[in-house]
Amino acid sequence: MEQLEMYKKLAGEKAVEYIEDGMTIGLGSGSTVYWMMKKVSELVKDGLTIQGVPTSKRTEGWAKEFGIPLVDFSNVEKIDVAIDGADEIDSELQLAKGGGGSLVREKIVDILAEKFIVIADKTKLVKTLGKFPLPVEVVPFGYEVTAKRIANLGATPVLRMKDGKVFVSDNGNYILDCQFQAIEQPELLHEEIKGLVGVVETGLFVNMADIVIIGNEQGTEIIT
Ligand code: 5RP
Repeated sequence: MEQLEMYKKLAGEKAVEYIEDGMTIGLGSGSTVYWMMKKVSELVKDGLTIQGVPTSKRTEGWAKEFGIPLVDFSNVEKIDVAIDGADEIDSELQLAKGGGGSLVREKIVDILAEKFIVIADKTKLVKTLGKFPLPVEVVPFGYEVTAKRIANLGATPVLRMKDGKVFVSDNGNYILDCQFQAIEQPELLHEEIKGLVGVVETGLFVNMADIVIIGNEQGTEIIT
């Protein structure tokens, strides 16, 4: 297995140690989450009663494939633990997410969790957010105007494409990948972008992470 993939696997599997019988789990999105879910499926096979809330259609598909029971989000009273990946994690545990385009559902689920655990390979740790273009989900109508208004905040927004077509999120929206110089004040920037009409959500997950598990050559590092 490639080294980076091994780091993802180590982080994903470590997070499963926080899952207990009877819990409702927020299932994040992305390739690191994939390894976490594979491990969760072993717990299910061992007889643990857990139920998952998926944050993307892809995650929902994996849950079905791996036999992880899912619960309708509208029937969920609380989420005990959410486990999700990240594109960047700064020294204050502020996150940039949305590389896979699932940031809205991820934020809705992750913010509700009593414990939000972030899993990532070591390349995701940064001093300051911003090298990874910040994903911002926007309403398709008038997205060009919304993009100009985000550009006025110091970014270069690019409309996300996939296979030669405009990428459409699970919610039917577009994603603008916004390159900023550096994101020194994530909370402030999130509020500024979120305040623009047409913006659905930003990929800045501010003051949300409780635990970060990093996979590296030593195994895993846990940051709180
Ligand atoms: C998807 C996300 C993912 O969690 C993020 O892109 C990390 O993915 P990966 O584990 O594949 O590196 O935010 O919207």
